[in-house]
Amino acid sequence: MTPESIRARLHTRVVGKRILCVELCASTNDVAWQAALDGAPDGTAVFAEEQTQGRGRLGRTWTSPRGTNLLVSIVLRPRLEIERVPLITALGALAVTDAVDLPARVRFPNDIVVDGRKLAGILVESRFISERPDLFILGIGLNVNAHPPDLPATSLAQEKGREQSRTIVARALLEAVDEWYARLDGPLKPWQKAWRERSDLLGREVRIRERGRSTAGTVDDMDPIEGIVLRLASGHVRSFRGEHVEHVVLR
Ligand code: BTN
Repeated sequence: MTPESIRARLHTRVVGKRILCVELCASTNDVAWQAALDGAPDGTAVFAEEQTQGRGRLGRTWTSPRGTNLLVSIVLRPRLEIERVPLITALGALAVTDAVDLPARVRFPNDIVVDGRKLAGILVESRFISERPDLFILGIGLNVNAHPPDLPATSLAQEKGREQSRTIVARALLEAVDEWYARLDGPLKPWQKAWRERSDLLGREVRIRERGRSTAGTVDDMDPIEGIVLRLASGHVRSFRGEHVEHVVLR
């Protein structure tokens, strides 16, 4: 993959106006951080063929064989109200579901699954440069032509029955991120609607692990800001926001 091949026929306003492709790095999120701190513009996208220390949420690792999948980190510099920060993860997740042309669903907080098998993961990191959250790195690992053998995981190639062009998928992904990014300070209705429709958890019995404690219940609602709204056996309703949730398992 090259910046030129991705940019050819790329239709975006902000995202991917600058693209870097590196062969090898520790983590594309680190390369994107460095680029951002050196002044890279809003929407700069960093792709890698291989990562030596790809990371997931909560200290997990992300592995992907060289040259098979999409490993991308996007520099975002929105003007964002602090309550809307969770929308950055939501935009990554919704963009993946838009880009892949499959019945992909969001397994809160940051997995994209097809029939329960993990297709992609989102890792958002942020820094406050001023007094507001003004710099985000949106990291996306998307299994295009390979997937880990151990987890219940899948890839686009597995789902579609043949190898896929990473360049075409990369372009679709940048375009979808650009679309959701443009809606970031708009009405919440379209976010809530898409989030509910594409949830893998709505109405299901789950167990949520948060800060070492486990809570069981039925998922009453999914909200891109409030998180998961759970109806407990007692009848009480409690919401769990994404940042502290270690995992959600189906019961
Ligand atoms: C998760 O499932 O916990 C999130 C995985 C995120 C992986 C991507 S790959 C590109 C970017 N660089 C990283 O080190 N992580 C993200």
